[in-house]
Amino acid sequence: MVKQRDTINNLSPYIPGKPIEEVKRELGLDRVIKLASNENPLGNSPAATKAVQEWSENMAIYPDGNSTRLKMALSEKLNIDPDQLLLGAGTDQILEIIAQTYINPGDNTIMGCPSFPRYESVVKVMDGQSIEVPLTGDYRMDLNGFLEKINERTRIIWLCNPNNPTGTMITSEEQLDFIRKVPKDILIVLDEAYYEYAKGGDYPESLELLNEFDNLIILRTFSKAYGLAGLRIGYAISNKEIIGYMNRVRGPFNTNTGAQLAAIAALQDQDFIEKSIQSNNQGKEYLYSVFEEMGLEYIPTYANFIMVNINLSSVEVFKALLKKGVIIRSGDIYGMDDWIRVTIGTKEENEIFVKALKEVINDFS
Ligand SMILES: Cc1ncc(COP(=O)(O)O)c(C=O)c1O
Repeated sequence: MVKQRDTINNLSPYIPGKPIEEVKRELGLDRVIKLASNENPLGNSPAATKAVQEWSENMAIYPDGNSTRLKMALSEKLNIDPDQLLLGAGTDQILEIIAQTYINPGDNTIMGCPSFPRYESVVKVMDGQSIEVPLTGDYRMDLNGFLEKINERTRIIWLCNPNNPTGTMITSEEQLDFIRKVPKDILIVLDEAYYEYAKGGDYPESLELLNEFDNLIILRTFSKAYGLAGLRIGYAISNKEIIGYMNRVRGPFNTNTGAQLAAIAALQDQDFIEKSIQSNNQGKEYLYSVFEEMGLEYIPTYANFIMVNINLSSVEVFKALLKKGVIIRSGDIYGMDDWIRVTIGTKEENEIFVKALKEVINDFS
């Protein structure tokens, strides 16, 4: 028997949102809606579809490992140097690259609790430890709590903003104050997967901080507002030195041509992004009003998902909703047993979800 590394014994596979086809097959349902993985309910820009269709005639050729054209497009949009960018197969892969680049065995990293679970797993694989700082009473990052946990083995701080699963935001002022207080040899990862939904108001424009601080990595993705989750493409923005070290770790062809072309096309279709944000705002207001009418506590969100307290076992409610063809996320995964996380869908999807939720809650009471 081949022996795996000891560390692997302490890992469990990531449990993704259930795929629609699997639920249809298992439960014999004709229609299933998935409001579990914070995907864009409007799909993706038609321009991205066209780009992938054109590429599909040419799949024999390896991708451009440097993602040159996509980097050019991003650098123009963001007004940064292409060498400040690293592309990954989703930001998820970039999290792995960050941990592989910066974590020695025994090092630790600090994250909120609950927050995006992948921060913990990428660090564990590298024989590092995760220090978890509980959210404040209003479900926000306890940044003072983070500062208290820093020790001589701390290498990375993960700031999920807005935070998944709570949708809460760290303001520009809070973030700047925090970054100033963190020792300069600790990397701060600003995970802005939901940037397009959150931007404006008090939400930080973190790019501006890259000139002042050299210990920052900003993560953004094409999986959420851009609607390209299936293609797997996201990016890191930092200084040239950090990107240079991460490029040593990155696989040579880690993003595929279809993803690169679709991302370029999607970037040019900002109307689609505007439409997506508008739809999200409308869905958010609708769901807020329904939750209020039902007397359910919810956490106001800066992203495209809402955490709502259903005062019942989230696992049971998850199963009951599944039987009605609605996939959501149960809060137990995040230590919030009475809560569910629902992605804001289209108008029709939101209405189907609400009807199903009312029936389920009724059945349980
Ligand atoms: C906070 C956060 N970061 C990163 C990711 C990973 O996204 P992707 O790998 O699709 O870019 C997600 C996906 O749900 C997320 O919620």
